[in-house]
Amino acid sequence: MRIAVTGSIATDHLMTFPGSFGEQLIAEQLDRVSLSFLVDDLQIRRGGVAANIAFGMGCLGLKPILVGAVGDDFAGYRSWLERHGVDCDSVHVSELRHTARFLCTTDEHHNQIASFYTGAMAEAREIELKPVADRLGGLDLVLISPNDPDAMFRHTEECRERGIPFAADPSQQLARMGGEEIKALIEGAAYLFTNDYEKALVEQKTGWSDEEVLGRVGVRVTTLGPKGARIDREGEPSVHVPPAAERGKVDPTGVGDAFRAGFLSGLAWGVSPERSGQVGNLLATHVLEEVGGQEYQLGRQGFLDRFAAAYGAEAAGEITEHLDCFHA
Ligand SMILES: Nc1ncnc2c1ncn2[C@@H]1O[C@H](COP(=O)(O)OP(=O)(O)OP(=O)(O)O)[C@@H](O)[C@H]1O
Ligand SMILES: [Mg+2]
Repeated sequence: MRIAVTGSIATDHLMTFPGSFGEQLIAEQLDRVSLSFLVDDLQIRRGGVAANIAFGMGCLGLKPILVGAVGDDFAGYRSWLERHGVDCDSVHVSELRHTARFLCTTDEHHNQIASFYTGAMAEAREIELKPVADRLGGLDLVLISPNDPDAMFRHTEECRERGIPFAADPSQQLARMGGEEIKALIEGAAYLFTNDYEKALVEQKTGWSDEEVLGRVGVRVTTLGPKGARIDREGEPSVHVPPAAERGKVDPTGVGDAFRAGFLSGLAWGVSPERSGQVGNLLATHVLEEVGGQEYQLGRQGFLDRFAAAYGAEAAGEITEHLDCFHA
């Protein structure tokens, strides 16, 4: 199954300031703030929704096609993704702008000052899917994840026009969109991914009920944080997929992306949606146990053991032949 993963590709630069921002801000001088914080620590993490999802699928042995826009500073990140099985040949490289970057400084009281530079991501709207499909002899599914909003609309429309099944994953972008825009992204999707909160937001903004949304998409997958996930299809009973036990809760950033990576991998393997949800849950716990969305290492036997512990030997048996973990 040829799955294209479209969405943001970015790096996060996270710094810690061993003091208090509040103490540096002078109330009478707020109209001419000029501050520089000497920071202790800089951590650079690979991120971006599409990159996180493609990485997860690559780690499970698939060859996802990453589609998004980056700057000419992407070389190092590209080779990391390619080493983990991601096809980066359809990534658009901007001649003018840097790869999207999130810069965040946190003080000792966990206050944060952050900036997000969109950069090259704005050029994702220039990407056409047809050349991607032509290069690969067709696409079986296109995931449309948070990105430049115009790129999200364009990819969705192009999938409809060309009859390519698509999965809608509007997540973070729901906050800034109106009802009509949200409808344009989800109508006719083969899959719709949201978390619980976003599910309610979709219904509130579109005015569509739970059933109406379900009538407009093939399968709706709702992640429930520590409660796992739920899978709904029109006219069928709802399937609840309990979470996989976590070994520790370190940092939840990127768990939703990892869930999608696992779920889509299950789909590509041809196992049931329930089994796919289990793969999604277990991959998500791997992200929960590390700081950063691409820091986990997947060993084949280790993954199978944890899968069997969470969902039983029979379920594990169904994924055994497919699982081809990148790490030893
Ligand atoms: N405490 C937890 N224990 C086990 N699994 C968890 C836990 N929290 C999250 N998960 C897993 O992660 C998946 C996605 O979590 P969640 O619903 O919080 O996504 P999200 O809100 O989109 O997260 P984000 O956008 O921050 O990545 C869940 O379906 C579940 O599999
Ligand atoms: Mg999310």
